[in-house]
Amino acid sequence: MYGIVNKAIEDLVIDNFGQDKWDLILERSGVEVDFFISNEPYDDDITYKLAGAASEVLSITVGEVLHAFGEWWIIKTGKEKYGGLMEAGGKNLREFLVNLPAFHNRIMLIYPKLTPPEFKVSDIEDHSINVHYFSKREGLQDFVSGLLSGLAKMYQTEVIIQLLQSRDDGSNHEIFRVSW
Ligand code: HEM
Repeated sequence: MYGIVNKAIEDLVIDNFGQDKWDLILERSGVEVDFFISNEPYDDDITYKLAGAASEVLSITVGEVLHAFGEWWIIKTGKEKYGGLMEAGGKNLREFLVNLPAFHNRIMLIYPKLTPPEFKVSDIEDHSINVHYFSKREGLQDFVSGLLSGLAKMYQTEVIIQLLQSRDDGSNHEIFRVSW
């Protein structure tokens, strides 16, 4: 994944837990990179190692790390660094989610070597929508639920996020029902 992802994990840890914890996490991960360059692609393994080490050092589950990272990604990375792009995504949560399937097309203009996730939406109602998540990558379901929760916060909307199906139960993709 592009360095911006690893850099965002670093920023999240330093902001919330301090530099010392980050130094420990980096050491524990075995990742030998002194600093991440945002627009350079890195092996996915680095991101997984950082998330695993963060879980050990902070004594929370990898799922909790990924969920927190999803929220951070929207509120800090998305809104603060790519505010215009995020705002163009929709004027409310429902509209943003309806437009989500095309979102990474624009991101690919900035990061041409992106391996983006694929999203589809179905069952679009006034107060709920089903978000389908397809990915070549494993184990990022909690990252997606964190992203959805971050989007809800961005639009100051209270939501319930339910995982209707998952690759863990033999399906070929995840479906999240987002209700507000
Ligand atoms: C301006 C905002 C955003 C930027 C700059 C961005 C950029 C990126 C980048 C660089 C990656 C790493 C993939 C790679 O390097 O190959 C990524 C992955 C990902 N993004 Fe985005 N993204 C943004 C918003 C979103 C939003 C709003 C969602 C969904 C709610 C989302 C969902 C994901 C997921 C799930 C992945 C993991 C990849 C996978 O599952 O295979 N992103 N994005």
